[in-house]
Amino acid sequence: MTTTEQRPRATAETSGTAAAGTGAPDRATRSGGEILIQGVGHVFPSDTGPVEALRDIDLRIAPGEFVSLVGTSGCGKSTLLNIVAGLLSPTRGTVTITPAAQDADARLPRRAYITQDDRLLPWRTAVQNVAFPLELHGVGKRERLARAHELLDRVGLADFAQRRPSELSGGMRQRVSIAQALVYRPAVLLMDEPFGALDAWTRESLHELLLDVQAELGTTTVLVTHDVFEAMGLSDRIITLAPRPGRILREYVLTDFPRPRSHRELQTPHFVEIHEQIRADLGFRT
Ligand SMILES: Nc1ncnc2c1ncn2[C@@H]1O[C@H](COP(=O)(O)OP(=O)(O)OP(=O)(O)O)[C@@H](O)[C@H]1O
Ligand SMILES: [Mg+2]
Repeated sequence: MTTTEQRPRATAETSGTAAAGTGAPDRATRSGGEILIQGVGHVFPSDTGPVEALRDIDLRIAPGEFVSLVGTSGCGKSTLLNIVAGLLSPTRGTVTITPAAQDADARLPRRAYITQDDRLLPWRTAVQNVAFPLELHGVGKRERLARAHELLDRVGLADFAQRRPSELSGGMRQRVSIAQALVYRPAVLLMDEPFGALDAWTRESLHELLLDVQAELGTTTVLVTHDVFEAMGLSDRIITLAPRPGRILREYVLTDFPRPRSHRELQTPHFVEIHEQIRADLGFRT
Protein backbone atom coordinates (compact mmCIF):
# COMPACT_ATOMS: atom_id res chain seq x y z
CA MET A 1 0.00 0.00 0.00
CA THR A 2 1.09 3.54 -0.43
CA THR A 3 0.90 6.95 1.11
CA THR A 4 -1.91 8.81 -0.59
CA GLU A 5 -2.69 12.43 -1.11
CA GLN A 6 -5.54 14.22 -2.74
CA ARG A 7 -3.24 16.03 -5.15
CA PRO A 8 -0.03 15.06 -6.94
CA ARG A 9 3.08 14.63 -4.85
CA ALA A 10 5.99 16.98 -5.12
CA THR A 11 8.99 15.66 -6.95
CA ALA A 12 11.33 18.09 -5.28
CA GLU A 13 13.42 17.33 -2.27
CA THR A 14 15.81 19.71 -0.72
CA SER A 15 18.91 19.09 1.28
CA GLY A 16 17.82 19.28 4.92
CA THR A 17 14.14 19.17 4.15
CA ALA A 18 11.78 17.39 1.84
CA ALA A 19 9.67 20.30 0.78
CA ALA A 20 6.57 20.08 -1.33
CA GLY A 21 4.91 22.88 -3.15
CA THR A 22 5.25 25.11 -6.10
CA GLY A 23 4.84 28.64 -7.31
CA ALA A 24 5.79 31.75 -5.44
CA PRO A 25 4.86 31.44 -1.77
CA ASP A 26 2.51 34.24 -0.87
CA ARG A 27 2.49 36.30 2.26
CA ALA A 28 -1.16 35.65 3.01
CA THR A 29 -2.11 33.75 6.14
CA ARG A 30 -2.37 30.05 5.39
CA SER A 31 -3.88 27.09 7.19
CA GLY A 32 -2.43 23.72 7.91
CA GLY A 33 -3.43 20.46 6.30
CA GLU A 34 -5.07 17.47 8.00
CA ILE A 35 -3.02 14.31 8.47
CA LEU A 36 -4.96 11.04 8.68
CA ILE A 37 -2.98 7.92 9.56
CA GLN A 38 -5.08 4.75 9.33
CA GLY A 39 -3.99 1.24 10.27
CA VAL A 40 -0.34 1.92 9.48
CA GLY A 41 2.17 -0.85 10.04
CA HIS A 42 5.70 -1.26 8.77
CA VAL A 43 8.08 -4.18 8.58
CA PHE A 44 11.70 -3.75 7.45
CA PRO A 45 13.45 -6.73 5.92
CA SER A 46 16.87 -7.37 7.42
CA ASP A 47 19.64 -10.01 7.29
CA THR A 48 18.54 -11.31 10.66
CA GLY A 49 14.86 -11.47 9.77
CA PRO A 50 12.02 -8.96 9.45
CA VAL A 51 11.90 -6.02 11.90
CA GLU A 52 8.39 -4.89 12.76
CA ALA A 53 8.93 -1.15 13.28
CA LEU A 54 5.27 -0.04 13.52
CA ARG A 55 1.93 -1.74 14.19
CA ASP A 56 -1.68 -0.51 13.99
CA ILE A 57 -1.01 3.22 14.07
CA ASP A 58 -4.25 5.23 13.87
CA LEU A 59 -3.96 8.97 14.33
CA ARG A 60 -5.78 12.04 13.06
CA ILE A 61 -3.90 15.31 13.30
CA ALA A 62 -6.19 18.30 12.81
CA PRO A 63 -5.32 21.31 10.65
CA GLY A 64 -3.10 23.64 12.65
CA GLU A 65 -2.56 21.16 15.47
CA PHE A 66 0.86 20.77 17.11
CA VAL A 67 1.48 17.11 18.01
CA SER A 68 4.62 15.70 19.62
CA LEU A 69 5.65 12.05 19.37
CA VAL A 70 7.62 10.80 22.36
CA GLY A 71 9.17 7.36 22.71
CA THR A 72 12.39 5.55 23.47
CA SER A 73 15.09 5.03 20.85
CA GLY A 74 14.10 2.54 18.16
CA CYS A 75 10.34 2.69 18.77
CA GLY A 76 9.59 3.78 15.20
CA LYS A 77 9.30 7.57 15.40
CA SER A 78 11.50 8.31 12.38
CA THR A 79 9.87 5.49 10.44
CA LEU A 80 6.45 7.05 11.09
CA LEU A 81 7.62 10.52 10.04
CA ASN A 82 9.22 9.11 6.89
CA ILE A 83 5.89 7.51 6.04
CA VAL A 84 3.95 10.73 6.69
CA ALA A 85 6.52 12.64 4.61
CA GLY A 86 5.87 10.25 1.72
CA LEU A 87 9.47 9.03 1.66
CA LEU A 88 8.58 5.48 2.74
CA SER A 89 5.57 3.36 1.75
CA PRO A 90 4.09 1.56 4.77
CA THR A 91 3.60 -2.20 4.56
CA ARG A 92 0.03 -1.74 5.81
CA GLY A 93 -2.44 1.11 6.10
CA THR A 94 -2.69 4.57 4.61
CA VAL A 95 -1.66 8.15 5.26
CA THR A 96 -3.82 10.86 3.74
CA ILE A 97 -2.85 14.50 3.81
CA THR A 98 -5.71 16.82 3.00
CA PRO A 99 -4.55 20.26 2.03
CA ALA A 100 -6.16 23.31 3.56
CA ALA A 101 -9.21 24.58 1.65
CA GLN A 102 -7.49 27.77 0.56
CA ASP A 103 -4.73 25.72 -1.03
CA ALA A 104 -7.20 24.27 -3.51
CA ASP A 105 -5.67 26.19 -6.43
CA ALA A 106 -2.08 25.34 -5.59
CA ARG A 107 -0.64 22.63 -7.78
CA LEU A 108 0.99 20.76 -4.94
CA PRO A 109 0.64 20.44 -1.18
CA ARG A 110 3.29 22.03 0.93
CA ARG A 111 5.12 19.83 3.39
CA ALA A 112 8.49 20.33 4.94
CA TYR A 113 10.51 17.70 6.78
CA ILE A 114 13.43 18.44 9.04
CA THR A 115 15.23 15.13 9.32
CA GLN A 116 17.29 13.85 12.24
CA ASP A 117 20.54 14.54 10.39
CA ASP A 118 20.99 17.72 8.38
CA ARG A 119 21.22 17.22 4.65
CA LEU A 120 22.47 20.57 3.51
CA LEU A 121 24.26 20.84 0.20
CA PRO A 122 27.95 21.24 1.12
CA TRP A 123 28.90 23.40 -1.84
CA ARG A 124 26.20 25.97 -1.18
CA THR A 125 26.36 28.78 1.35
CA ALA A 126 23.85 28.94 4.19
CA VAL A 127 21.69 31.48 2.40
CA GLN A 128 21.82 29.50 -0.85
CA ASN A 129 20.76 26.37 1.06
CA VAL A 130 17.84 28.16 2.69
CA ALA A 131 16.76 29.62 -0.65
CA PHE A 132 17.07 26.28 -2.46
CA PRO A 133 13.44 25.08 -2.10
CA LEU A 134 12.24 28.43 -3.48
CA GLU A 135 14.72 28.20 -6.36
CA LEU A 136 13.42 24.72 -7.24
CA HIS A 137 9.96 26.14 -7.64
CA GLY A 138 10.87 29.11 -9.73
CA VAL A 139 10.78 31.95 -7.21
CA GLY A 140 12.84 34.86 -8.54
CA LYS A 141 16.35 35.42 -7.19
CA ARG A 142 15.67 38.71 -5.45
CA GLU A 143 12.62 37.38 -3.58
CA ARG A 144 14.15 34.07 -2.61
CA LEU A 145 17.31 35.66 -1.27
CA ALA A 146 15.32 38.27 0.66
CA ARG A 147 13.23 35.55 2.27
CA ALA A 148 16.22 33.33 2.99
CA HIS A 149 18.04 36.23 4.69
CA GLU A 150 14.92 37.01 6.74
CA LEU A 151 14.73 33.41 7.98
CA LEU A 152 18.46 33.21 8.70
CA ASP A 153 18.05 36.35 10.75
CA ARG A 154 15.16 34.78 12.69
CA VAL A 155 17.24 31.70 13.56
CA GLY A 156 20.12 33.94 14.68
CA LEU A 157 22.46 33.29 11.76
CA ALA A 158 22.41 36.62 9.91
CA ASP A 159 26.20 36.86 10.20
CA PHE A 160 26.76 33.39 8.78
CA ALA A 161 24.75 33.68 5.56
CA GLN A 162 27.80 33.33 3.32
CA ARG A 163 29.35 30.35 5.14
CA ARG A 164 29.26 26.82 3.79
CA PRO A 165 27.96 23.96 6.01
CA SER A 166 31.51 22.73 6.72
CA GLU A 167 32.25 26.13 8.31
CA LEU A 168 29.27 25.90 10.68
CA SER A 169 28.77 24.05 13.97
CA GLY A 170 26.30 21.15 14.20
CA GLY A 171 23.75 23.36 15.94
CA MET A 172 24.18 26.09 13.31
CA ARG A 173 23.66 23.59 10.51
CA GLN A 174 20.49 22.44 12.22
CA ARG A 175 19.30 26.05 12.41
CA VAL A 176 19.95 26.43 8.67
CA SER A 177 17.78 23.32 8.12
CA ILE A 178 15.02 24.87 10.24
CA ALA A 179 15.22 28.12 8.25
CA GLN A 180 15.11 26.09 5.02
CA ALA A 181 11.94 24.32 6.17
CA LEU A 182 10.20 27.52 7.26
CA VAL A 183 11.14 29.60 4.20
CA TYR A 184 8.46 27.62 2.44
CA ARG A 185 5.64 28.53 4.82
CA PRO A 186 4.62 24.88 4.79
CA ALA A 187 1.07 23.72 5.57
CA VAL A 188 2.53 20.61 7.24
CA LEU A 189 5.82 20.68 9.11
CA LEU A 190 7.46 17.41 10.20
CA MET A 191 10.45 17.59 12.55
CA ASP A 192 12.63 14.78 13.85
CA GLU A 193 14.62 15.87 16.93
CA PRO A 194 15.39 19.26 15.37
CA PHE A 195 16.69 20.85 18.56
CA GLY A 196 18.80 18.00 19.94
CA ALA A 197 22.15 19.58 19.14
CA LEU A 198 21.30 23.06 20.39
CA ASP A 199 22.09 24.89 23.61
CA ALA A 200 19.20 25.82 25.93
CA TRP A 201 19.07 29.49 24.85
CA THR A 202 19.00 28.78 21.14
CA ARG A 203 16.44 26.06 21.75
CA GLU A 204 14.12 28.45 23.56
CA SER A 205 14.37 31.12 20.90
CA LEU A 206 13.60 28.54 18.21
CA HIS A 207 10.62 27.30 20.25
CA GLU A 208 9.31 30.88 20.20
CA LEU A 209 9.92 31.10 16.47
CA LEU A 210 8.00 27.86 15.91
CA LEU A 211 5.05 29.04 17.97
CA ASP A 212 5.05 32.38 16.10
CA VAL A 213 5.10 30.60 12.75
CA GLN A 214 2.31 28.30 13.83
CA ALA A 215 0.18 31.21 15.01
CA GLU A 216 0.86 33.13 11.80
CA LEU A 217 0.46 30.32 9.28
CA GLY A 218 -1.64 27.72 11.13
CA THR A 219 0.97 25.13 10.18
CA THR A 220 0.11 21.56 11.19
CA THR A 221 3.20 20.42 13.06
CA VAL A 222 4.48 16.99 14.09
CA LEU A 223 7.54 17.02 16.35
CA VAL A 224 9.57 13.99 17.41
CA THR A 225 11.45 14.69 20.60
CA HIS A 226 13.09 12.90 23.50
CA ASP A 227 12.60 15.97 25.66
CA VAL A 228 9.32 15.70 27.58
CA PHE A 229 9.52 19.35 28.75
CA GLU A 230 9.93 20.47 25.15
CA ALA A 231 6.85 18.45 24.18
CA MET A 232 4.85 19.85 27.13
CA GLY A 233 5.91 23.42 26.32
CA LEU A 234 4.91 23.33 22.67
CA SER A 235 2.19 20.77 22.01
CA ASP A 236 -1.57 20.66 21.72
CA ARG A 237 -1.23 16.92 22.16
CA ILE A 238 1.55 14.51 23.13
CA ILE A 239 1.48 10.92 21.85
CA THR A 240 3.62 8.30 23.61
CA LEU A 241 4.85 5.31 21.64
CA ALA A 242 5.84 1.85 22.86
CA PRO A 243 8.72 -0.07 21.23
CA ARG A 244 8.98 -3.39 19.36
CA PRO A 245 6.73 -3.04 17.53
CA GLY A 246 6.10 0.72 17.68
CA ARG A 247 2.52 1.33 18.87
CA ILE A 248 0.59 4.27 20.25
CA LEU A 249 0.40 3.97 24.03
CA ARG A 250 -1.42 7.04 25.22
CA GLU A 251 -2.22 10.65 24.37
CA TYR A 252 -2.15 13.78 26.50
CA VAL A 253 -4.32 16.71 25.42
CA LEU A 254 -2.94 20.11 26.46
CA THR A 255 -5.19 22.44 24.48
CA ASP A 256 -6.56 24.00 27.68
CA PHE A 257 -3.15 25.48 28.46
CA PRO A 258 -2.39 28.55 26.36
CA ARG A 259 1.06 29.02 24.85
CA PRO A 260 3.72 30.17 25.27
CA ARG A 261 3.97 28.12 28.48
CA SER A 262 6.56 29.40 30.88
CA HIS A 263 9.17 27.30 32.60
CA ARG A 264 7.30 28.00 35.85
CA GLU A 265 3.98 26.74 34.44
CA LEU A 266 5.65 23.49 33.45
CA GLN A 267 6.51 22.98 37.14
CA THR A 268 2.87 23.17 38.29
CA PRO A 269 1.20 19.99 39.60
CA HIS A 270 -0.75 19.27 36.43
CA PHE A 271 2.37 19.27 34.26
CA VAL A 272 4.44 17.43 36.88
CA GLU A 273 1.79 14.70 36.83
CA ILE A 274 1.84 14.52 33.02
CA HIS A 275 5.64 14.40 33.06
CA GLU A 276 5.62 11.51 35.51
CA GLN A 277 2.97 9.65 33.56
CA ILE A 278 4.94 10.02 30.33
CA ARG A 279 8.09 8.79 32.07
CA ALA A 280 6.12 5.80 33.31
CA ASP A 281 4.80 5.19 29.74
CA LEU A 282 8.41 5.12 28.54
CA GLY A 283 9.42 2.68 31.26
CA PHE A 284 11.36 5.10 33.50
CA ARG A 285 11.02 5.11 37.25
CA THR A 286 9.12 8.20 38.44
N1 LIG B 1 16.22 0.78 6.95
C1 LIG B 1 16.00 -0.05 7.97
N2 LIG B 1 16.24 -1.38 7.84
C2 LIG B 1 16.01 -2.23 8.85
N3 LIG B 1 15.55 -1.85 10.06
C3 LIG B 1 15.31 -0.55 10.24
C4 LIG B 1 15.54 0.42 9.21
N4 LIG B 1 15.20 1.65 9.70
C5 LIG B 1 14.80 1.46 10.95
N5 LIG B 1 14.84 0.14 11.28
C6 LIG B 1 14.44 -0.46 12.57
O1 LIG B 1 13.11 -0.04 12.83
C7 LIG B 1 12.96 0.28 14.21
C8 LIG B 1 12.49 1.72 14.35
O2 LIG B 1 13.51 2.59 13.89
P1 LIG B 1 13.36 4.18 13.89
O3 LIG B 1 14.54 4.74 13.23
O4 LIG B 1 12.02 4.52 13.33
O5 LIG B 1 13.35 4.47 15.47
P2 LIG B 1 13.29 5.88 16.25
O6 LIG B 1 12.13 5.80 17.20
O7 LIG B 1 13.31 6.99 15.29
O8 LIG B 1 14.64 5.84 17.11
P3 LIG B 1 15.63 7.05 17.56
O9 LIG B 1 14.93 7.75 18.71
O10 LIG B 1 16.86 6.35 17.99
O11 LIG B 1 15.85 7.94 16.39
C9 LIG B 1 14.30 0.00 14.86
O12 LIG B 1 14.25 -1.30 15.43
C10 LIG B 1 15.29 0.02 13.72
O13 LIG B 1 16.37 -0.86 13.95
MG1 LIG C 1 14.70 8.49 14.90
